Amino acid sequence: MKWLITGAAGMVATDLNRALTERGEDVVALSKSDLDITSSRRVQQAIGDAQPEVVVNCAAWTRVDDAETNEASANAINGSAVELLATAVNRAGAKLIHLSTDFVFDGTKREPYEINDPTAPLSAYGRSKLLGEIASAHAERHVVLRSSWLFGHNGPNFVEAIRRQIAKGTNPLRVVDDQRGRPTYTPHLAEAIIRIAHSDANGILHYADEPECTWFDFARAIVEETGASVTVKPVTTAEFPRPAIRPAYSVLSTERYERVTGVRPASWREGLHEYLHS
Ligand SMILES: NC(=O)c1ccc[n+]([C@@H]2O[C@H](COP(=O)([O-])OP(=O)(O)OC[C@H]3O[C@@H](n4cnc5c(N)ncnc54)[C@H](OP(=O)(O)O)[C@@H]3O)[C@@H](O)[C@H]2O)c1
Repeated sequence: MKWLITGAAGMVATDLNRALTERGEDVVALSKSDLDITSSRRVQQAIGDAQPEVVVNCAAWTRVDDAETNEASANAINGSAVELLATAVNRAGAKLIHLSTDFVFDGTKREPYEINDPTAPLSAYGRSKLLGEIASAHAERHVVLRSSWLFGHNGPNFVEAIRRQIAKGTNPLRVVDDQRGRPTYTPHLAEAIIRIAHSDANGILHYADEPECTWFDFARAIVEETGASVTVKPVTTAEFPRPAIRPAYSVLSTERYERVTGVRPASWREGLHEYLHS
């Protein structure tokens, strides 16, 4: 299968590119300097030249808090550019796999979000990602793959934030205990993307590692895995105000992914162990 990956220098894209290359797949991996996805001409040219069977859009504006004051820029990359990709993908007869987020939900549910649950983003970033979901549907063959709470070797993430605090000698660590989600190790997400690309699935899918937890639970696991002698104290979101509002509950149901691929999601705890010890 021939693949084209956008945003190739990013966290998910780097692991996807590695997983595909290890399998001997034919991959064209284009970073922002190779292909700015907001340029219609360059998108048409890159996809037209490569003639991929699958385009995985990993390019995105991912600075959640900064999006609050830069919504137009976030919309251009996360929204309008996806329509350009969809048009080029249709011309090439390819399939578009577009990555999206749990932040399209408002977090008022108390049981896992299903693929067809109503979206109601609370932040500019979430709104921009929702625009991208709608735009990706312009591709005749497309998958919107939502994931959550990503950590991996090639980007800033929560595990590194906690390790930085430990290295600075912060004790106790104060971590929010009133937001629930599913942390996801990016090499696991890369495997999920490959499985989905090889399936007949169209439309929305959720992939996230198991099980659900709070940021406090996640921080405790990180401290345990690193062997640091630091106390982790639960605090509320209200004690840690940030520019963008996060959903209090954004547990994604992966039921459709499991049905389509026949595979259960991997464990974030195992991913964390690999991340810290490999
Ligand atoms: N991180 C999470 O916790 C999380 C959770 C759920 C879903 N997601 C989604 O997963 C996807 C991948 O996320 P990630 O964490 O791997 O993001 P990332 O590490 O920030 O990678 C995104 C890449 O896109 C590039 N980019 C930005 N603007 C571009 C443009 N106009 N044209 C081409 N490339 C551009 C960025 O380059 P620069 O850095 O140079 O701008 C960066 O290399 C995104 O769709 C994100 O919304 C992320």
